[in-house]
Amino acid sequence: MKKMIIRGTGRYLPERIVTNADMTQWMDTSDEWIEQRTGIKERRWIPEEGNVGASDLGLEASKIALARAGWTPEDLDLIIFATLSPDINFPGSGCLLQSKLGLKSTPALDIRQQCTGFLYGMQIADAYIKSGYANRILFVGSEVHSTGIEKATRGRDVTVIFGDGAGAVCLEGVETDENVGVLAASLHAQGDYAESLMLEAPASRLNPRLTHEMIEDGRVWPKMDGRNIFKLAITRLPEITQTVLGKAGLTIGDIDMVLPHQANLRINQSFQKSLGIGDDKIYNNIQKYGNTTAASIPIALDEVIEKKLIPEKNATVLFAGLGAGVTWGAMIYRFL
Ligand code: ACO
Repeated sequence: MKKMIIRGTGRYLPERIVTNADMTQWMDTSDEWIEQRTGIKERRWIPEEGNVGASDLGLEASKIALARAGWTPEDLDLIIFATLSPDINFPGSGCLLQSKLGLKSTPALDIRQQCTGFLYGMQIADAYIKSGYANRILFVGSEVHSTGIEKATRGRDVTVIFGDGAGAVCLEGVETDENVGVLAASLHAQGDYAESLMLEAPASRLNPRLTHEMIEDGRVWPKMDGRNIFKLAITRLPEITQTVLGKAGLTIGDIDMVLPHQANLRINQSFQKSLGIGDDKIYNNIQKYGNTTAASIPIALDEVIEKKLIPEKNATVLFAGLGAGVTWGAMIYRFL
């Protein structure tokens, strides 16, 4: 039977480091507040000058992942691009990346699943591979948040948590009887909570889509009910993890590394404690990158592989996350 195998990973973080102390020039906040509440010490932002979009960061991560897989762009059957900060409203960043890779007709699919973009993207890729519609897929999660957040006290709860970055993964279908690839996955959404974390304007449900008043009222910046999202995360992440462990017939002790979405270190510490995960079996990098949304899990995965924190053969990893939508999910993946 065909299994989806990770052939190469890559990440790209812009060089510009923005510390918590830097944040105090735009808003009433402090290093202590940000670190205590979120664990974040610094994040990366695109350069101040020039136009850099999600597809540009995605391109850099993709080049590394493709090189590690030993593939050229022409080898790809499909590109899946996950972002909440597309280069332009439409067409999708996947089409822009496809062009930047020098491709002329390879299909490109954008998905808008925010913090669960990697989880949804991996399941879509797995389904494409198992159905035979594609065999070599490039997944890219990429965000440029820094130009879409309000650098003022009004937006400080959201602004301090987001960072820019991209992660890419090359995925291939392989015929094997080994118990590898996606061992279990579970994905959910509950649109009742859409307004707990959203960016409202401009939008088709508003007529006109954009007015000066909307800009002045701050409806063009993300808005978050942080407490609600926090509560949902600390209850649903352990639940969904138990679900996928049950589906795979595994216990948490069978997992070599847990890679949670990087939304808040306190969420991940609570998640770790409730499942009894050892410190060496969970990976966090929010301290240096903030929340890079669709890019956070693939960036973490790339670092874990590079640092050799998981076995070279048959490593079993667990991905989990919750974010805007709300959407949430988990997946257990075993390397070949
Ligand atoms: N600096 C200083 N003070 C701040 C800041 C800041 N950056 N942000 C908010 N505050 C203030 C608030 O104004 C409030 O002040 P008040 O008591 O005078 O009204 C006080 O701090 C407490 O605010 P809360 O929002 O209750 O703070 P909380 O402890 O909940 O922390 C945080 C806020 C960090 C945002 C937290 O709620 C959180 O991380 N939530 C989850 C975020 C998340 O997981 N998002 C989903 C992923 S993102 C995605 O899907 C795109």
